[in-house]
Amino acid sequence: MKHALHLQPRCNRLLWVTNAICTSSTGRNCSTISIRLGYTMKTIPPPLRFAIFSLAVCLLFAASVSIAFAQKSSKPAANHSAAPPPLLLGTAWYPEQWPEARWEADLDLMQKAGIHFVRVGEFAWSTMEPAEGDYHFGWLERAIDEASQHGIYTVLGTPTAAPPAWLTQKYPETLRTEEDGRKAEHGNRQQFNWDNPKYRELARDIASRMAQRFGHNPYVIGWQIDNEYSQVSFDPQTRADFQSWLKNRYGTLDNLNTRWTTAYWSQTYSNWNQIPIETKYGNPGLLLSWKRFVSDTWRSYQKNQLDAIRQYTAPRQFITTNMMGWFQGYNHYVVAQDLDLAAWDDYVGEGHLNPYKNGSTDDLTRGFKQKNFWVMETQPGHVNWAPVNNDLNKGEVRAMAWHNVGHGADAVSYWQWRSALNGQEEYHGTLVGADGTPVPLYPEVAELGKEFTKAGPALAGTSPKSQVAILHTYGSVWAIDWQRHNKNYDPIAELLSYYQPLHDIAQSIDIVQPTVPLGQYKLVVAPGLNVLSKAAAKNLVDYVKNGGHLVLGQRFGMKNNDNGLQTERQPGPLVPLLGGRVEQYYALENPVAVTGQFGDNTSKLWAELLSTSSPDTQVIATYGKSNGWLDGKPAIITRKVGKGSITYVGVWMDEAGMAKLAQWMTGMSGVNTPLANVPTGVEVDPRYGKNHTVFILVNFSSNPQTVPLAASMQDVLHGGPVLSVTLPQYGVSVLSEAKQ
Ligand code: GLA
Repeated sequence: MKHALHLQPRCNRLLWVTNAICTSSTGRNCSTISIRLGYTMKTIPPPLRFAIFSLAVCLLFAASVSIAFAQKSSKPAANHSAAPPPLLLGTAWYPEQWPEARWEADLDLMQKAGIHFVRVGEFAWSTMEPAEGDYHFGWLERAIDEASQHGIYTVLGTPTAAPPAWLTQKYPETLRTEEDGRKAEHGNRQQFNWDNPKYRELARDIASRMAQRFGHNPYVIGWQIDNEYSQVSFDPQTRADFQSWLKNRYGTLDNLNTRWTTAYWSQTYSNWNQIPIETKYGNPGLLLSWKRFVSDTWRSYQKNQLDAIRQYTAPRQFITTNMMGWFQGYNHYVVAQDLDLAAWDDYVGEGHLNPYKNGSTDDLTRGFKQKNFWVMETQPGHVNWAPVNNDLNKGEVRAMAWHNVGHGADAVSYWQWRSALNGQEEYHGTLVGADGTPVPLYPEVAELGKEFTKAGPALAGTSPKSQVAILHTYGSVWAIDWQRHNKNYDPIAELLSYYQPLHDIAQSIDIVQPTVPLGQYKLVVAPGLNVLSKAAAKNLVDYVKNGGHLVLGQRFGMKNNDNGLQTERQPGPLVPLLGGRVEQYYALENPVAVTGQFGDNTSKLWAELLSTSSPDTQVIATYGKSNGWLDGKPAIITRKVGKGSITYVGVWMDEAGMAKLAQWMTGMSGVNTPLANVPTGVEVDPRYGKNHTVFILVNFSSNPQTVPLAASMQDVLHGGPVLSVTLPQYGVSVLSEAKQ
């Protein structure tokens, strides 16, 4: 009885210890095992129980010591809550570049700046594995631990964008080959071949070892795979892999020859191994296929590491990679599929923030997973790679971060904390200088840190929700870029000419692929959607037939999914629905006059001569006197289809014309402005939660601006209700409105 009484609390302690050890060693809660153990103990006679108990305690103690020794498990952090805050400020930190004795000072300064996380490790392979098979993760664990003592979480980067010298020396086959046949060398970064099996094996090894070590570290919140995918290889093995990829996609050479029309210039292939790699001037079907192969190969390169990481990590740890906005190297939708969230590196470079350009890039990134995203890197003041590396103005860095948040960023992270004392990027902007003390920008970022912490609860669970979608595919942008026809025709600029006035009205735009469900949008706009798959065409026709309002822009639907010409002329399979088509396109030497629904304007760079074939297709703008061919001919046509409509815009007007077009498009489709009476130059970005909406306002004009509110809202940053806000240049306001 005595023993039994004694045993009860000890038994509980034993269960607790078992559970703790299980959890810390496997990362999973082992309550089932410990409950079973407890139950078994109760069925054994007390004296024996005591002996077993003592033995078990000894064993568990030994086990816990050895696990602790092996893992040097993390100490509890002073300021940590269980989950990271909903809105995070971060910085890229490279502890491997500094003596450990310095870490404390850096982390202390980070903590004072309100930094919530550090991104660590993404170029540190030579420190993690200085010689093949000789792994050193202790320093990384200590860095993560020490950061946690300052309430700072860690995002771990796999170091595969910077393979160590021993690796490239021992496995030269892992080096990529440039398009001109030269082999990349060690000394820079990204010298690896993304298609090479040996490199993938080595990348998988380091990623999985990191995951085994840190997959359950409570302070590691997520993973970044590699860094800014970009360089590809043109070696013979990659070419053979491309040919196999083509075989898989096209099945037979007959099919490929037909779909690429290879009879043209005697390009007919009689063996798969005859097919070359072309990146600029080849057959359009070949060019598009190479880009698709590149995209799929980045996806499998990433999946190789992603699967290795997933095998060992707690589900709470997300996996992402840092993409590069409108970078055209691969199809980001394809690569983002396997990630938990999308992230991008937001650099202005030379000049100042263009809210439309930057905001649209946020929206593009949000569209990859159709949910909130991270800004994994952004410039603390200036970069080192632009023609002129000017600093952003005082207040502009803070405005830029809030602008990102307005577009759906849940984290913004500065690259970098402090410059390495040598290395290629000595001139880049940082938050502390070479002497380790704060630079003039530091207090501005520290203000942000406080604000993010304060606004986090209001922004938790909120995201932008748009009434308007702009459609975009990589295939279309590539196809136009390969055959611009007018050297100044930039497909992204065309997209932005719609984005800008539409954002002014709708205050939120989704940029998405044409194959996603569109029913939620009042208005769908498709500028430059040049390459149109059958699935996309069907989705668009269904959208209109179900009452949606679709506006097609220049060059829409000229190409099929193999980058060949559609036989209906533009807009391809949508000709019958439109009851009209493009008779001819004209690259322009000078702008041509356009008149009609949107007043007098011009079309620059490009003009399309339209015709109608259905009596209910209306002409709402015509060309003025120009090259003779266009004179008086239809420039914009529209047709009602049930409750919906389809419109074709054959012109690219100046800002005033596009603004009027945007007024018309939003008016006829019922798109409204969520926060009315906002002065020009102030951007408003709503984020919607279940029961409230948060409006983020940023003044990008050079004068102070006052925004009157129809009803009182809660001022999230300063507290209390407000009926209007006045913002200086770069001023920010975060307002919360409860749902009525
Ligand atoms: C990129 C890289 C970083 C750094 C910055 C400098 O975003 O990911 O490692 O080189 O550029 O702007």
